[in-house]
Amino acid sequence: MMKQQTPISATSPVPITSTAIAAEAAADQRSVMGGDESAEPTGEVEVRPPASPSAPVIKVAVDTGLEPVTGKIPKMQAHDVRVFYGDKEALKGVSIDIHEDRVTAFIGPSGCGKSTLLRCLNRMNDTIPTARVTGKISLDGEDINGAAMDVVQLRARVGMVFQKPNPFPKSIYENVAYGPRIHGLASGKSELDAMVEKSLRRAGLWDEVKDRLQESGTALSGGQQQRLCIARAIAVDPEVILMDEPCSALDPIATAKIEELIHELRGRYAIAIVTHNMQQAARVSQRTAFFHLGEMVEYGKTKDLFTNPRETRTQDYITGRYG
Ligand SMILES: Nc1ncnc2c1ncn2[C@@H]1O[C@H](COP(=O)(O)OP(=O)(O)OP(=O)(O)O)[C@@H](O)[C@H]1O
Ligand SMILES: [Mg+2]
Repeated sequence: MMKQQTPISATSPVPITSTAIAAEAAADQRSVMGGDESAEPTGEVEVRPPASPSAPVIKVAVDTGLEPVTGKIPKMQAHDVRVFYGDKEALKGVSIDIHEDRVTAFIGPSGCGKSTLLRCLNRMNDTIPTARVTGKISLDGEDINGAAMDVVQLRARVGMVFQKPNPFPKSIYENVAYGPRIHGLASGKSELDAMVEKSLRRAGLWDEVKDRLQESGTALSGGQQQRLCIARAIAVDPEVILMDEPCSALDPIATAKIEELIHELRGRYAIAIVTHNMQQAARVSQRTAFFHLGEMVEYGKTKDLFTNPRETRTQDYITGRYG
């Protein structure tokens, strides 16, 4: 795999050292956020963490025109969320807002609680018997753990894409049609066909699979499988998409496609993405939250967090002092 042959790439494993970031930044001339096809006023600026004149340049997506509408509540809000696995407190009172039209990146060393928080947002921790969640999480102001919330509906509204692409062992068509069918979203075959096509188009996969919709989803390449999983999440018309290291099993070309896709999807969904790749966080997100040992140390605009971190721990992490 390219991943193994390329020590520094968009899919570099953690910990990413400052040298790795520098080399990657230098090697990476792609401009996912500022691609020619995009008419959006986005682009990249090159920034350097403060107090580190020799630190590498990190490219950060320009955050334009994305201020929240005044008075509008964030799509999702977590307040003082704690997660215990048995007696162990894995998340120690995290409060964060996830906004519409934005990509929010969760970064931090392994074991700091990024996946745990992500899983709280669509109650995937319910499936872990030892997990106990306290605090409040709301979707459009409604408590997702409240009695009125149907967890199946919640997971349709807040979709999830995992690290390892996990298509069902069914046809490409069925992978995408499954959700709309069980949620009763299509009134007949032609409507379902249209939904499958729309989702596959949005996931940037239609042209590659339109002539082989009856082939197994598992027969696709890793990158295609991941786009299929994104199409599957999109098919039920979610409001939020959670992605847990969606590119870590992919080569750099497949990674670039997913990043481009995230950029395109941003205007339509609130997106939260866990990544170990700081270049990726800087490229795809407008907000970044840095976690350490179960705490959310810092949260802010991606550019600010990478250029002007308020906390020493953040600065140490982004400059590669610890993984
Ligand atoms: N199912 C589980 N049972 C018990 N402990 C768990 C479970 N899942 C996670 N933990 C613990 O909770 C803490 C946070 O784990 P989590 O998976 O959220 O970290 P992470 O930031 O996503 O790490 P990584 O970057 O390695 O994926 C870790 O100490 C982990 O060992
Ligand atoms: Mg994780």
